[in-house]
Amino acid sequence: MCGIVGYVGTKQALPILIEGLKRLEYRGYDSAGVALVADDAIRITKSAGRISVLEQCLDHDDNAITGIAHTRWATHGAPNDINAHPHTDQSERFAVVHNGIIENYRALRTYLQNQGVEFKTDTDTEVLAQLIALVYDGNLEETVRKALHEVRGTYGIAVVCKDEPGVIVAAKRGSPLLVGIGEDEYIVASDASAILAHTSQVVYLEDDEMVRVSQDGLRTTTLEDIPVTKRIQEIEWTLDQIELGGHEHFMLKEIYEQDAALQNCMRGRIDAENGTIHLGGIADVARELTRAKRIILTGCGTAWHAGLVGEYLIEDLARIPCEVEYASEFRYRNPIIEDGTVVIAISQSGETADTLAALEEAKQRGALALGVVNVVGSSIARTTDAGIYLHVGPEIGVASTKAFSGQVVVLSMIASYLGRRRHMSQPAAEQLLSALDRIPAQITSVLEQNDACKKVAQDYVDRENWLYLGRGYQYPVALEGALKLKEISYIHAEGLAAAEMKHGPIALITDDMPVVFIATQGSQYDKVTSNIEEVRSRGGRVIAIATEGDRQIAELAEAVIYVPDTLEPLQPLLTVIPLQLIAYHAAVLRGCNVDKPRNLAKSVTVE
Ligand code: AGP
Ligand code: GLU
Repeated sequence: MCGIVGYVGTKQALPILIEGLKRLEYRGYDSAGVALVADDAIRITKSAGRISVLEQCLDHDDNAITGIAHTRWATHGAPNDINAHPHTDQSERFAVVHNGIIENYRALRTYLQNQGVEFKTDTDTEVLAQLIALVYDGNLEETVRKALHEVRGTYGIAVVCKDEPGVIVAAKRGSPLLVGIGEDEYIVASDASAILAHTSQVVYLEDDEMVRVSQDGLRTTTLEDIPVTKRIQEIEWTLDQIELGGHEHFMLKEIYEQDAALQNCMRGRIDAENGTIHLGGIADVARELTRAKRIILTGCGTAWHAGLVGEYLIEDLARIPCEVEYASEFRYRNPIIEDGTVVIAISQSGETADTLAALEEAKQRGALALGVVNVVGSSIARTTDAGIYLHVGPEIGVASTKAFSGQVVVLSMIASYLGRRRHMSQPAAEQLLSALDRIPAQITSVLEQNDACKKVAQDYVDRENWLYLGRGYQYPVALEGALKLKEISYIHAEGLAAAEMKHGPIALITDDMPVVFIATQGSQYDKVTSNIEEVRSRGGRVIAIATEGDRQIAELAEAVIYVPDTLEPLQPLLTVIPLQLIAYHAAVLRGCNVDKPRNLAKSVTVE
């Protein structure tokens, strides 16, 4: 994915474009560029590296009032100056910025080369600029429409033309695009955070829709040129929510926000006293969902880990067969969807291409399609039959933290909601919801272990291979802890079901390997402590996440981080926090870019 910003208005475009790019940089950041339209020309500045590098190349006095800009996450063509967006045609009459993949770009490139076009870059995107130039008929909007009929793949694009200064044409298929509506100005962007400083009024484009913005106003149509009336929506986030708020990194801010974020997530939804749950987002499908014969949870990365907790929760509390599937596998493996199958897509961004495609595949096969999503109005949210928003606020750090917790809370609420409508007694529901209600305060106390977590990071940060082990509800937490460490500190880490270690991975244990056990009090505590002994007897360096008051574990582990006790199904909400903090400190100690780890992007809107 990447960041797209376009501005049409009465102000100098450049500072607005650059400020917008900076707010989108978490979406992709290997190169960046700007195209400004003025004086019968398009002025392009672009460079590999971060936006700060681009800023050094810009003419900040450029007074153009129309422009487009892009921060890239490369799919085709190395992340270098020439492959950075915007891309132009040979005559530099047009400039294009693009998020997505043009899947038939090779065929289009060959066709265009046969028409005498000489390409300058290795990207798929350049074929768009060259194709638009080839079919140009004097009207930018019509020309873009015509060109897009030849394109297969995914795109969010913004296009400008030197013959039509003051106009931006944008289009969407598979990658997010929205338009902010200001006072005599419009901002096209791939994400609300680039718009929020200027307006909270937005319209979201749907797939195969286009928009033309200019001083004359905004016109939305389908690719078939059928006018579309768009509802103006309000961005629910505030500016300070997308800013650092005094923290050194967004990831640390978002780790520390989890207590407040989960309070927001639960607000108005749980009534612990009466043991009831109110989930308005799925009220219309409650009956169908309660009678589900099978529930499939699907997502990617951290969302998949939350889904694995969800699988355990739904089977444990609601007694409905449930399984979690990697979206990228589910969508291609000819899945069986019988009557009574419900598919729930889990996604923070609501834009992950594989998860969106898996949801669409499930819908086409007749499943009831639900969503557990954070970003309001996102593509996945708008594709579902119903769903539940996390309401944990914007998550900017590429490594997901509060979204994971929010997803687990929502899945806990869904499991309780279904359990109550099926087998769960009121006292059991009251007990569970009371425990859930206490989680935010307990998270606050876990966050006070930050120094202990930092010490663990300091003591083991030079080890190149770590293992994370857990059983039951803690197995998904082991996977999530390993992902956190590897994606931001680049230390190799593997999460495993603790019992699985002896079926092979135990061969890895040496006195050089940190092994993190999530060993809280629970139904498999004794088994976990046996696994710890197995590691210790082979010289492994044991780090334990344990329940407050557990003195036995201190005799088994070199380092122990304690968390408060809670019901076993809710323990992931507490045990994940130290693992987030350990990963964070390890990344800082290793000088890594915590919020923008190499090769990553916040939401992978390409396959
Ligand atoms: C999480 O730390 C990762 N950055 C990544 O695995 C992420 O969870 C995954 O790409 C899914 O994103 P989504 O929740 O926005 O769909
Ligand atoms: N596929 C395009 C490229 O590689 C766009 C990538 C992106 O979404 O940033 O340049």
